[in-house]
Amino acid sequence: MEKVDENNKQTVINFLKVDVIKHVFAVYDLQHDPNHTILYAAFENSELKGYILIYTALQFPSVILECKKDLARQLMEYAPQNHFIIHTSPETLPIIKSKFKNAKTYIENWMLIKRGRANFFMSNFVRRLHSENDAYKLFTLLSSREDRRAGTVESNLELICKMPTYGVFMKDELVSYASSFLQLPQVWMIGGVYTHPNHRNKGYATLATSAVTEEALKNAESAALFVRSDNYPAIRVYKKIGYQKIGEKIWVDVGTGLKP
Ligand SMILES: CC(C)(COP(=O)(O)OP(=O)(O)OC[C@H]1O[C@@H](n2cnc3c(N)ncnc32)[C@H](O)[C@@H]1OP(=O)(O)O)[C@@H](O)C(=O)NCCC(=O)NCCS
Repeated sequence: MEKVDENNKQTVINFLKVDVIKHVFAVYDLQHDPNHTILYAAFENSELKGYILIYTALQFPSVILECKKDLARQLMEYAPQNHFIIHTSPETLPIIKSKFKNAKTYIENWMLIKRGRANFFMSNFVRRLHSENDAYKLFTLLSSREDRRAGTVESNLELICKMPTYGVFMKDELVSYASSFLQLPQVWMIGGVYTHPNHRNKGYATLATSAVTEEALKNAESAALFVRSDNYPAIRVYKKIGYQKIGEKIWVDVGTGLKP
C-alpha cells in the first residue's frame, strides 16, 4: 500500500488515464484539487490494483473505493471512522457492510452520453446562469429543497462562476437548473439537476440538462452522471436526451444521513 504524494503521483495518474471515465474523480482530484485529496494505492508487480481516495472538501468526507473484493478490507483501513460517504462497486459492498453494520446503501446508475449521440431539447426560456441576481434566484430555488442545503447567495455565485450552470426561467423565476461540477477533456460530470416541486413534469429538467449537456459535448468527448436507480423521473429525463446506463455504483452512507 502506498500513500500517493508528489513522488509517485504521475505513475498513479498514468494507470488511471487508461480509463478516465471509470476513474474520473481520482484523475480530476489528484491533478486539480490535491490539497483535498488523500489517496492510498495498492500495487502488485508494479501495477495499480486498486485505491482508496478520501476527498475532504465537502461537508463530509467522500470516499472512493475502487478495487476487487480481495483488496477491499485492506484499503478500507484508511477510511475515516464515521460520518462519511463511500462510493464503490457492488462487488466490495459485503466487505464494507461487515465493517459498518448500520450503513445505509443506495444503488446509483452511472449514465453516459458520447458526442454526436445526444437529442437536444432547445428553448428560449433556458440560459446560462452568471450574475449575482442569478445566484440569488438559484439560492431561492434551492431553498425549496428539503434534502440538500441551499448554501448562501455567495456560495451559489461562486458555483455558477466556476461551474457551467443552466437554468429555465418562467416569468423571471428560475424553476429548474442543471450544472456540471467537473470538467475534463474526456468527460464532463453533470449534477445538481433540480426542478421546483410546483413546476415538475413540464419538461423543464429536460431543457436544463439538455443545455448543460450540449455545452459539455462541445468541450468534451462525453458527459456522465450518477442517478439513484429508483429515481424514475430523473432517469426518464436523461434517457430522453440520450444518456445510457454504463454501470452501477453503490452509495454507502456511514452516519451522515445523506442520500444520493
Ligand atoms: C428529477 C427532476 C429533476 C425532474 O424534473 P422535471 O422538470 O419534472 O423533469 P421533466 O418534466 O423534464 O421530465 C420528467 C419526465 O419523467 C416522467 N415521470 C414523472 N414521474 C415519473 C415516474 N414516477 N416514473 C417514470 N417517469 C416519470 C415525466 O412524465 C417526464 O417524462 P415525459 O416528458 O416523457 O413525459 C425532478 O423530479 C426533481 O427535481 N427531483 C428532485 C431532485 C432530483 O432527484 N434530481 C435528480 C438527481 S440525479
